[in-house]
Amino acid sequence: MSMSLRTERLLLRPWRDQDLAAFAAMSADAQVMEFLPPLAEPEACAAWAARLTAHWRDHGFGRWVVELPGEASFIGVVGLAWISYQAHFTPAVEIAWRLLRAYWGRGYATEAARATLDYGFNKLGLAEIVAVTVPANLRSRRVMERLGMTHDPAEDYDHPNHPQGPWKRHVLYRLRNSRLAP
Ligand SMILES: CC(C)(COP(=O)(O)OP(=O)(O)OC[C@H]1O[C@@H](n2cnc3c(N)ncnc32)[C@H](O)[C@@H]1OP(=O)(O)O)[C@@H](O)C(=O)NCCC(=O)NCCS
Repeated sequence: MSMSLRTERLLLRPWRDQDLAAFAAMSADAQVMEFLPPLAEPEACAAWAARLTAHWRDHGFGRWVVELPGEASFIGVVGLAWISYQAHFTPAVEIAWRLLRAYWGRGYATEAARATLDYGFNKLGLAEIVAVTVPANLRSRRVMERLGMTHDPAEDYDHPNHPQGPWKRHVLYRLRNSRLAP
């Protein structure tokens, strides 16, 4: 069961079947996908959405659709997920974000991310939330830094699902739950 979150400017709400078209359009934008593995086929987007809803069903939390009330019913997807592969820092819950290009540069990703971190730490009681990306994704790394996440280069790693090519090397950012003892 998924629920909605409100922030000052945004509504984070559950995925609906009708979101697939907007998600597919976002995933067809070369700028959005510059540092992400392509979701070229329509079936790849449907599979991504199926994983999103399965994660909610299996774990009771996941990625939300971000809506700009009164303006746009879909500006992107932000939320939490268990990392699906094994690495030196797993098991771990990651935070991730992906917004339509037209909505970059307004602080929406950071605002939505803050609400989901608050949910992860204060409602789910997670001890830590991580974020990962390729080193060149500076825009995403800036969001991680704005959120207070920390990066130790000694913890960078090779993604086991991408043994070669541009998605091999990854940086790891961590944020501890400040409510819990270190
Ligand atoms: C990563 C991504 C979500 C970041 O989006 P973003 O809009 O740059 O991030 P924020 O929401 O934190 O916005 C910060 C920018 O908004 C500006 N801003 C404007 N109004 C603001 C406000 N009220 N509050 C905060 N920031 C504001 C900031 O100055 C900053 O601008 P800058 O980029 O020129 O420095 C976006 O680039 C994206 O979707 N990329 C493609 C997908 C992707 O790579 N995802 C990550 C995979 S790991």
